[in-house]
Amino acid sequence: MLVLVTGGTGAVGREVVKGLRAAGHQARVLSRKPGESEDWVQGDIATGAGLELAVKDADAIVHAASDATHPRRYQATDVLGTRRLLAMAREAGVRHVVYVSIVGIEDVGYPYYKGKIAAEAVMRENLVPWSILRATQFHTLMEIFLDYMSKLPWLATVPFAWQFQPVDPTEVAARLVQVVTAEPVGMLPNFGGPEVRDLKSLATSWLRIRNPDKRLVNLPLPFAFSRQFAAGRLLCPENRDGTITFEQYLARRYPATT
Ligand SMILES: NC(=O)c1ccc[n+]([C@@H]2O[C@H](COP(=O)([O-])OP(=O)(O)OC[C@H]3O[C@@H](n4cnc5c(N)ncnc54)[C@H](OP(=O)(O)O)[C@@H]3O)[C@@H](O)[C@H]2O)c1
Repeated sequence: MLVLVTGGTGAVGREVVKGLRAAGHQARVLSRKPGESEDWVQGDIATGAGLELAVKDADAIVHAASDATHPRRYQATDVLGTRRLLAMAREAGVRHVVYVSIVGIEDVGYPYYKGKIAAEAVMRENLVPWSILRATQFHTLMEIFLDYMSKLPWLATVPFAWQFQPVDPTEVAARLVQVVTAEPVGMLPNFGGPEVRDLKSLATSWLRIRNPDKRLVNLPLPFAFSRQFAAGRLLCPENRDGTITFEQYLARRYPATT
């Protein structure tokens, strides 16, 4: 089948593309950047550019495009962009759209998560038959957080108590490939990583490989979302679907240093 992957250049999307192709399907990437291959459409869900071409003849869509780094664009990209994509997909006769969402978003007062809740509501309007897979935080995101928290010379300042259940994007992608090539099912069970970890222990493993000279320091943050992260609101310990730990991910990513 022909599957459009929005966000096909991102952490999970590029693994979905690989997985679909390995399984003998055709995967078309939507990206704001110019094409790197034949199955590539340059476009933007926030403006609608390229979307008509992107959805043409597609049987299904994995919708993993999202702009988590620009708070002013959550609404335009994640919410209105999702509605625009679904409207075009409906016109084109797409039979199934799978949306990638996040575990626990109702329970954390974080602006990006409000956008995810609103985007899920757009999916439920049923413009196109749908499935939603909520996952816990990816290993790649843990690295983005830890890199950002290690900018000071000699120090890594990390909220020690934040709790995550990090999951490997390759394992989430494998699940998405199964889901998108099957019938729409609505809300799927949460997909979680193998271990519940506090950020102190993740930071310790990461620093050992990336910045062994930096000192790890606790940084309690006086925000509601920080307390909610620490209280484990983003976890689904009953769903330990992934098998790859953060340390195994680091060993794969930095083979020379482990
Ligand atoms: N990261 C996590 O820990 C995590 C956990 C659970 C669920 N999720 C969800 O999974 C999805 C993918 O996350 P990710 O971490 O893989 O993403 P990512 O690495 O940040 O990549 C974001 C993707 O979105 C695309 N994109 C952004 N704005 C766009 C626009 N206006 N039009 C078209 N494409 C656009 C980017 O493509 P170009 O830059 O090539 O245009 C890129 O491929 C998101 O919905 C996220 O909320 C993420």
